Amino acid sequence: MRSSEPADLAEVVTERFGGDGADVTVASAPGRVNLIGGHTDYNDGFVLPVAIDRRTAVAARPRTDRTVQVFSTNVGETRTFSLDSPATEESSWVGYVEGVARSLADEAPSPVSGLDLAVRGDVPMGGGLSSSASLELAAATALNETWTLGHDRTELADRCWRVEREFVGVECGIMDQFVVALGEPDRALFLDCRTREYERYPLDEDVRVVVTNTNVEHELVDSAYNERVAQCREGVELLAESPSNDVNALRDVSVAEFEERAETLPETVRDRCEHVVRENERVKTAANALETGDMERIGALMGASHRSLRDSYEVSCEELDFVVETAESVDAELGSRMTGAGFGGCVVSLVRADSVESFAETVRAAYAAETGIEPDIFPCAVGDGAGVENRPSE
Ligand code: GLA
Repeated sequence: MRSSEPADLAEVVTERFGGDGADVTVASAPGRVNLIGGHTDYNDGFVLPVAIDRRTAVAARPRTDRTVQVFSTNVGETRTFSLDSPATEESSWVGYVEGVARSLADEAPSPVSGLDLAVRGDVPMGGGLSSSASLELAAATALNETWTLGHDRTELADRCWRVEREFVGVECGIMDQFVVALGEPDRALFLDCRTREYERYPLDEDVRVVVTNTNVEHELVDSAYNERVAQCREGVELLAESPSNDVNALRDVSVAEFEERAETLPETVRDRCEHVVRENERVKTAANALETGDMERIGALMGASHRSLRDSYEVSCEELDFVVETAESVDAELGSRMTGAGFGGCVVSLVRADSVESFAETVRAAYAAETGIEPDIFPCAVGDGAGVENRPSE
């Protein structure tokens, strides 16, 4: 049984809402960390994330009416909505569950029942490890099963991605929901965000993925994110003006084409485009390096990715830069970069397995001394994507 303890969570449903546990379904979904491919997904580009061994679980039991009650063991509160009433525009955690439930219910072939739900998770919230995609996919997987809708994991990922965009109002790409749905243990997922084709590559057993949560979150992440999306779009419009090319997204621009046209672009747009164009190349090179087991190469590419996100894309911050620089000073570290949207959140590092503890202690002590903030540093096993943990009467 996984750390999310599905049997326990099924019991939470009966404790909270009465009745028996015979028809409770439990599903869970992981958080994620992206090894490389920062801000490429909404540019139709490439990413190389992994699902991590921190998960969110959702237990679901059908009701005889159209009410949905959701209890979160993390928050310690129950929220209620009706599938027959208009959406509540809820901006807290329950909004993700409601968005997913309404989206699936609205397009179900026949009317669906209400639900008693319990939620529990250990993906840090707001830390850039996709706790929201994890909750969305856990809920979507549980509801898909309870309502026997028969969607596959790719469809659920797409559905949750739409909910996230509508609900949060951030024009995010597909990466988070996709890897949270389709990750596999010990494998990184190389994803083409345009075609949604993917390949899974095994990770070297002697290397660990280590996450350092800076425990800072600067303001304006969402507006800065949408500003980057707009700047990339502007770059596409300018680069598409030449009749000789067919540019629909920055993904369609090669490094050579970019270099030829760079001087014609306004400075900020040029910097943003340069990051994305070169980052896509780095992700493809990193995927090839994974295939040949060249982890040192991946580490070097991660360092280059971070510097580009810092200098050209301007989505890093002092705390992230400090962690990356400190991490890079440790011999056993192969590479580090900020991961997620930026302006705080987490750094991902590849570290030799026998030195994870000393690496963590070096980074922790230096960061705490520099900032006065205790970071959370933890190695992640690369875990499974979303799935049903147990079905009724199993
Ligand atoms: C956030 C978004 C992702 C992706 C990353 C940056 O995590 O949710 O879609 O754009 O930022 O790579």
